[in-house]
Amino acid sequence: MTPDDFEFVADLLKERSGLVLTRDKSYLIENRLMPVLRRRRLKGLGDLIGYLRDGEESLAREVVEAMMSGETTFFRDWKPFEHFRTVTLPNILKARKDKESFRILCCGVSTGQEAYSLALLLREAGDALAAWDPQIVGIDIADGAITRAQKGVYSQFEAQSGLPVRMLISSFEKVGDSQWRIKDVLKAGLEFKRWNLTEELYPLGAFDVVLCRNVLTFFDQETKIQVLGRISRLLTDDGALYLGLDETTVGISNNFRAVVPEIGVFGVDRPDRPVSQSLAVGAWHGSSQSNAKESA
Ligand SMILES: C[S@@+](CC[C@H](N)C(=O)[O-])C[C@H]1O[C@@H](n2cnc3c(N)ncnc32)[C@H](O)[C@@H]1O
Repeated sequence: MTPDDFEFVADLLKERSGLVLTRDKSYLIENRLMPVLRRRRLKGLGDLIGYLRDGEESLAREVVEAMMSGETTFFRDWKPFEHFRTVTLPNILKARKDKESFRILCCGVSTGQEAYSLALLLREAGDALAAWDPQIVGIDIADGAITRAQKGVYSQFEAQSGLPVRMLISSFEKVGDSQWRIKDVLKAGLEFKRWNLTEELYPLGAFDVVLCRNVLTFFDQETKIQVLGRISRLLTDDGALYLGLDETTVGISNNFRAVVPEIGVFGVDRPDRPVSQSLAVGAWHGSSQSNAKESA
């Protein structure tokens, strides 16, 4: 690939998704675009980039999607979910008891495991949420990932990655020899949409909790500032934000304060509503992964 071609693809990715690709990652272009070349029966990257330069819109979308890392698992990193279950959810049950509803947004939800993990935790809350109307919205730029999330069908390997066996048995049904489909009851109140985080998010409405985990890491500082700005405008004054374990709002946004930064938990912090009142604040004992899994 010529330096010019690399710059062209890197600019296209940055402009359309916020994804930053440095020169040392140029091998990713070659690896991830191979399936696109095969699907489109193109001879090589030169041809593909030629069509992109001619402004082929559907190809540009396919390329952006192919370049995304959609890596995810059920209950990825576990502790943030344990924090949600033991701190944020009980706070929500108190703070929202008058309206008996709340909304959670998963940004960069990939193939849906993150949103279904939350749905599984809400189901486990049982009677405490019986009369409630919780909503979970999952968004991602990748069409293919969103279609898979909507179907809620996972391979044996995906189902085994992070999902306690007890939950697999109770909330999924086997499809054929090697796939598992999440039961319809878990899909109630759940919605997946294609949405680009580089665009405005306010049409999605307000949210009490936002997860944006392992997404900011792909963006440069300017895009992180914009995305966290949009997220802060969506969140309620007492909202909770979950980022990936090595992601932070520090140095990027003044609208949040760290609550349990080592597991990516932040709270909205506004002049008239300090972080101490965030839904994410409460006694957190940081149970170990193995203990948490055993109790699940
Ligand atoms: C590594 S996955 C993280 C999945 C999940 N949040 C987790 O932590 O397991 C990153 C996801 O972010 C999505 N993504 C990247 N840029 C995006 C953008 N500009 N708008 C929406 N989604 C984006 C990718 O398509 C990918 O599915």
